[in-house]
Amino acid sequence: MADSDLLQNKIIGFIGGGNMAQAIGMGILKKGIIKPNNIWISSRTEKTLSIWKNVGANTTFKNYEVVQKSDIILLCVKPQLLNEALETSIPPSNCDQEKLFISVIVGVTLAALQAKLSKIVSKPRIVRSMPNTPLLVSEGITVYCSSLTTENDEAVMKLLFSSTGICEKIQESLMNSAGALTGSGPAYGYMIVEALADGAVRRGIPRETATKFAAQVLVGAGKMILQTEKHPGQLKDEVCSPNGSTIAGVHALESGAVRASLMNAIAAAASRSDELSSSTQN
Ligand SMILES: NC(=O)c1ccc[n+]([C@@H]2O[C@H](COP(=O)([O-])OP(=O)(O)OC[C@H]3O[C@@H](n4cnc5c(N)ncnc54)[C@H](OP(=O)(O)O)[C@@H]3O)[C@@H](O)[C@H]2O)c1
Repeated sequence: MADSDLLQNKIIGFIGGGNMAQAIGMGILKKGIIKPNNIWISSRTEKTLSIWKNVGANTTFKNYEVVQKSDIILLCVKPQLLNEALETSIPPSNCDQEKLFISVIVGVTLAALQAKLSKIVSKPRIVRSMPNTPLLVSEGITVYCSSLTTENDEAVMKLLFSSTGICEKIQESLMNSAGALTGSGPAYGYMIVEALADGAVRRGIPRETATKFAAQVLVGAGKMILQTEKHPGQLKDEVCSPNGSTIAGVHALESGAVRASLMNAIAAAASRSDELSSSTQN
């Protein structure tokens, strides 16, 4: 089957229409992979639903309506609200039992999802994913693992998430660690950009210009690593002249323990995901 046929006549539903749902949904809409009238969204507030109505998607306050209408259902609520959202996702009358569920929820394991979703449909096929918000601008990363999925489901998953960035399947045991980098990473990137811009503002560069320059520096550095495939340390060495200005800046970063801080950030986020995995088992 051609990629373009995979989602033909398929309805994609989102339970929870917030930031992550918007990054995924608006990202794939921009790519033209699905039409707005093939999307169903449920959320709690009119404010969130109106964002989706404005792009022509179908909206409802009833989670079970999304389950009934959709072939592929993305679970996009906060981990603490998942049980509550799923309680209201059980259709009042029998619906097609063949559904693919894609969870984006941090920490919630395939086993936990299996137990919870089996109360909604008898044979849930499940993907546990960790996407990130840059999907919205087609520069995302999604890591995932799956259970009871078909070859077709895997192809759908790749189509949905590769269209807006990198999408890679990994072992479930690595999900929380990978998510600490990919899912949480944009926040660290924003902080680094903001801090670099602050430094430039301190030296007299206007704020807007400083932020634009700092963001482009990170985009450029990332692309250099991906496209040249050189080690980041080598690329760093290539811009550090002996006794030059860049090595002076590098020394300042090392004095501030920037590497240890970033490594600690990954460890802290992964530990918190592990805690969430334990607390969302039931
Ligand atoms: N944000 C990220 O960068 C990121 C990255 C990777 C994974 N994730 C995961 O994505 C999930 C969602 O995060 P988010 O940042 O998108 O949060 P968010 O912006 O707060 O969105 C969550 C949405 O869930 C809706 N909701 C809450 N309870 C509901 C219920 N009972 N029924 C239906 N909808 C309900 C909320 O509706 P209202 O707005 O109408 O109140 C809200 O729009 C989390 O589990 C998180 O782990 C997020």
